Amino acid sequence: MYQKVITIAQQKGGAGKTTLAAHLSVALAQKGLQVAMIDIDPQGSLTEWYKIREEHFGEEHTGLHFFSLSGWSLGTEVSRLRRTHDIILIDSPPHVETEARAAIRHADLILVPVQPSPTDLWATQATLQLAQREKIPTRIVLNRVNAVSRIYEIVRDELGDFSLCTLGNRVIYAASLMEGFGVTEAAPSSPAAEEIDVLAGKVIRLIKQSASKQLAETA
Ligand SMILES: Nc1ncnc2c1ncn2[C@@H]1O[C@H](COP(=O)(O)OP(=O)(O)OP(=O)(O)O)[C@@H](O)[C@H]1O
Ligand SMILES: [Mg+2]
Repeated sequence: MYQKVITIAQQKGGAGKTTLAAHLSVALAQKGLQVAMIDIDPQGSLTEWYKIREEHFGEEHTGLHFFSLSGWSLGTEVSRLRRTHDIILIDSPPHVETEARAAIRHADLILVPVQPSPTDLWATQATLQLAQREKIPTRIVLNRVNAVSRIYEIVRDELGDFSLCTLGNRVIYAASLMEGFGVTEAAPSSPAAEEIDVLAGKVIRLIKQSASKQLAETA
C-alpha cells in the first residue's frame, strides 16, 4: 500500500485539473491500485462526474472511493484514507487560496496541468513557488496541446525538468466524462487513452520512488 497523496493544482481556471483528476484516477484504479478521490473545489465538477459514474456502475462498483470535502477537514480525512489506499487524489479549486493551499500542503506529489500559452505559463509560477516552499515534488502535465508548435516548444522548454508528459486537445476527454467514464474505459484503444496510460505509468514510478526514499529515511 503506497499511501500517497497526489494533489492536482493550478491557480489558472480551466487548465484541466478536474479532467486530469478523473482520467488519471480511473487509469490508476484499472492498474489495480486502491484509489480515493477528494473534491475540495466548491464548484463540485468532479462530484458531478462521480454522481453520473455511480448511476452507471452502481454505488459499490465505481472502482474508486469518492469524498467531497472542504479544506478544513482535509487533514483528518487524508490521514484516515492513507491507511487503506495506495493513492488519494485531490482535485483543487483555481486560485492559490486556503483550500488549494491545504491540498498542496498534504501532498506527496503535485501535478499541475498547463496549457501551452503565455498566460497559462505565467499563472503557473505561483503554484510552482508554493510547491517549492513546501518542498513537495511537482510535475507539469502539458494539456490541450493541439500540435507540436513553436509556442508548445517554448512553454515546454521554460518548464524544463518539471515536464512529465503531454495530453492532446481531444474531444474524447470531455465526452467520456459526460458519461461518468475515464477515457481508458470509454475508448481504450484511442490516442487519448494511450496518453493517460503513459501518464499513469509515470505517476506510479514517481510514487514508488517516493515510497522507497521514505523507507530508506526511516530505516
Ligand atoms: N486535453 C483536453 N482536451 C480537450 N478538452 C479539454 C482537455 N482538458 C480539459 N478540457 C476541457 O477544458 C475545460 C476545462 O477543463 P477542467 O474543468 O478540467 O479545468 P479545471 O482546471 O478543473 O477548471 P477549474 O479551474 O474551473 O476547476 C473543460 O471544458 C474540459 O472539458
Ligand atoms: Mg476543476
